[in-house]
Amino acid sequence: MSKKYLIETFGCQMNDLDSEKIAGNLQRHGMVSATDPSEADIIILNTCSVREKAVQKVYARLGEIKRQKNIRQDLVVGVVGCMAQLESDSILKKAPYVNILAGPQKSQVMTELVERTIRTGEVAVDLRMEEDLESVETSYVMRQNRWRASVMISEGCSRRCAFCVVPSTRGRERVRPSEAIIREAEELVAKGYVEIVLLGQTVNSYRERTGNRMSFPQLLERLSRIEGLKRIRFTSPHPADFTDELLEVMISRPQICNQIHMPVQSGSTRILRAMRRGYTRERYLEIIDRIRQAPREVAISTDIIVGFPGETEADFEDTLSLLDAVQFDSAFSFKYSPRPNTAALNLPGEVPEEEKGRRLEKLQERQKLIQYNKNAAYLGRRLEVLVDDRARNRFDLTGRASDNRIVNFDGPESLMGKFIQVEITGFGPNSLKGVWINSAAVKQ
Ligand code: 5AD
Repeated sequence: MSKKYLIETFGCQMNDLDSEKIAGNLQRHGMVSATDPSEADIIILNTCSVREKAVQKVYARLGEIKRQKNIRQDLVVGVVGCMAQLESDSILKKAPYVNILAGPQKSQVMTELVERTIRTGEVAVDLRMEEDLESVETSYVMRQNRWRASVMISEGCSRRCAFCVVPSTRGRERVRPSEAIIREAEELVAKGYVEIVLLGQTVNSYRERTGNRMSFPQLLERLSRIEGLKRIRFTSPHPADFTDELLEVMISRPQICNQIHMPVQSGSTRILRAMRRGYTRERYLEIIDRIRQAPREVAISTDIIVGFPGETEADFEDTLSLLDAVQFDSAFSFKYSPRPNTAALNLPGEVPEEEKGRRLEKLQERQKLIQYNKNAAYLGRRLEVLVDDRARNRFDLTGRASDNRIVNFDGPESLMGKFIQVEITGFGPNSLKGVWINSAAVKQ
């Protein structure tokens, strides 16, 4: 009987994609997906270590899995991704029943690792950093969405932001050849995908050192000329690598969505310097100004960290005032979490946990109000929506506008995968609701 696997994914979109590739590899070798952990022969946790909380979640989950393992000793448990890369020793100490340890980008050896641990009864380990991204690429990807596909263009990061563990887990930045990226995008379109999301830790620092020597804006421009590719997104650009050329390509190519997710991290130049971000508050605001002056309306979202070492009340106020100044369409915000191998560990001025909590709450309240007001302005507007799922609320369907806003509405299943017009009739801080404008009915 073929073995059943279950993959649980923590963290970022890169991990989501890696999990899709792991599933592709296992299925290619005859394994089938389990719907419930209790029926799985193999459980793989694809992990994140960007914050301590993400790590704790995995240890908690491993604790639960141990109980399963006590009942079924042949259950294979794998811990893969960033956490495995960073703290394999600690995982083996806290969870000695783990059978597989593998870093990021190991989808192509996953079946082999499963077979090896079953054969030898020992832990199968592969923590070698993959230098050549192309050699681990695959077209066997079990994609979760039938219309939108992620495409990795680079991996790792050569910046040294003081808070960030990613250089230790994913290594320095390596880029894929533009030809391979373009080919993958073309193949996806041929399979029926209409939207691609380009992924990289600092996606806009993409630059090919050999071959076509393409820059990120050039790559975007080239991709936008693929026939049938209706939407292109990318995440996440770093402000220090944001160029006018990039903005120009975005404006001139309608396929590139009206959306930029550009992490600011702090509104205080002093803290940005301590974070080693490579830009000031003023420079960030200048980029935002440029984007706002563009002839296309572009939604801007961000990531923010509160309570970085040395962050004073005045620094935090700077972050709040930046929120007011930019009016982000959405924002992810986090309490600073000390991470191994990072420069911030040696910085004085630790902010107490309760104070971090207070700041986070205040910031999120402020941002929620901004989003509420921004979304209110959409009432009565018509948006083009790519219908991509059944809604999880009282509506039938859900989709996204070009600016990445979630739009919920009622309509038949047959609309899935189509671009339709929706008139906005309601809103919340995180989504819009509307009415499908059935053009066939309108014409009658
Ligand atoms: N503590 C808190 N948040 C962090 N991030 C990265 N490292 C840390 C950390 N040590 C946040 C940043 C980044 C997002 C993916 O996670 O805001 O943009």
